[in-house]
Amino acid sequence: MLINKNISLKHFNTFGLDYKAECMVRVRTKKEAVALFKGEISFKKPLLILGGGSNILFTGDFKGTILLPDFKGIRIEKKEGRSVIVSAGAGIVWDKLVEWTTERGLGGLENLSLIPGKVGAVPVQNIGAYGAEVKDTIIKVRAISVIDGSVRFFNNKECGFGYRTSIFKGSEKGRYLVTRVWFRLSGEPVLNLNYGSLNEEVAKLGGATLKNLRKAVIHIRQNKLPDPEVTGNAGSFYKNPVVSPQLADILKKRFPQIPCYDDPSGGIKLAAGWMIEHCGWKGRRLGKAGVHENQALVLINTGEASGKEILDLSEKIRASVMEKFGVELDREVVVI
Ligand code: EPU
Repeated sequence: MLINKNISLKHFNTFGLDYKAECMVRVRTKKEAVALFKGEISFKKPLLILGGGSNILFTGDFKGTILLPDFKGIRIEKKEGRSVIVSAGAGIVWDKLVEWTTERGLGGLENLSLIPGKVGAVPVQNIGAYGAEVKDTIIKVRAISVIDGSVRFFNNKECGFGYRTSIFKGSEKGRYLVTRVWFRLSGEPVLNLNYGSLNEEVAKLGGATLKNLRKAVIHIRQNKLPDPEVTGNAGSFYKNPVVSPQLADILKKRFPQIPCYDDPSGGIKLAAGWMIEHCGWKGRRLGKAGVHENQALVLINTGEASGKEILDLSEKIRASVMEKFGVELDREVVVI
């Protein structure tokens, strides 16, 4: 186990904010994690588990311990007919796993190509993009209780997945460290080309194959979303809000162009990016914080912005969406 004191967080959060953590622990094995949580090794509290730092906004130094899960290994566990079960350690970079599976002709994760972050954060967030959500492939998650070091498996149902959420972000928040995730993939993939221009993009690349679909998703992402290595950001800052059909009808009368999608809950999902753009925020700067010029749902650090500046900008955006549309935006990003 590697323990460091007074560490800069700059390379541990995709906003690139240069705050410090009092203590940082890198955990590589289940045994180390169990020892830590059973109290055999003492650490400064509070504890914050950090994956790739791609969904977090620090607003100051962290006066506790940051735990970096570094569990490695991608394995084919078994084959069941057309299904192939693959497991991956929480410390694997998500896109490395997607690359690994698509190269082997295993389908299920390709629409989620290039999403920043690590495998351990994927069930916590139930990541999604281009018509797919990771919950449709996860069969189980192994996690260790932060409270007593006990090891527990959660099957898909027990994970309590929802739109960009799970039990690990809800009722069990902060109580478990995810160490490994099992995915059910398909050796004979049926491609999901329903989102926007995916079909055309894939055709341009020579046809609908798994590898072309991955390439198309990467291409769309690179055109729309800023690369966190170049411009600090954490992907979508807010979730797309779900409103009542009544409110959606009122909004459609006032704003005929507003994108609306049926949500499985019976409500109507609205595009937060569209509303933010129509409040005039797209491409705007407030000090060193800004709104991305190609996707208004993404807030950026244009240079040496502070976490507070980004948070202030986000609150102003939230207020103007409330004023113009009467819709409350919830953050997808976790503010610390
Ligand atoms: N739109 C605008 N202006 C904008 C942004 C979007 O008018 O500035 C409109 C688009 O034209 C489209 C609609 O809003 O009609 C939806 O936009 P888009 O397809 O780009 O997706 P999104 O709803 O803004 C979601 C996810 C993204 C994911 C994309 C693609 C959330 C919170 N975000 O964004 O996920 O990549 O769909 O599937 O659900 C993330 O979670 O960090 C993330 C990047």
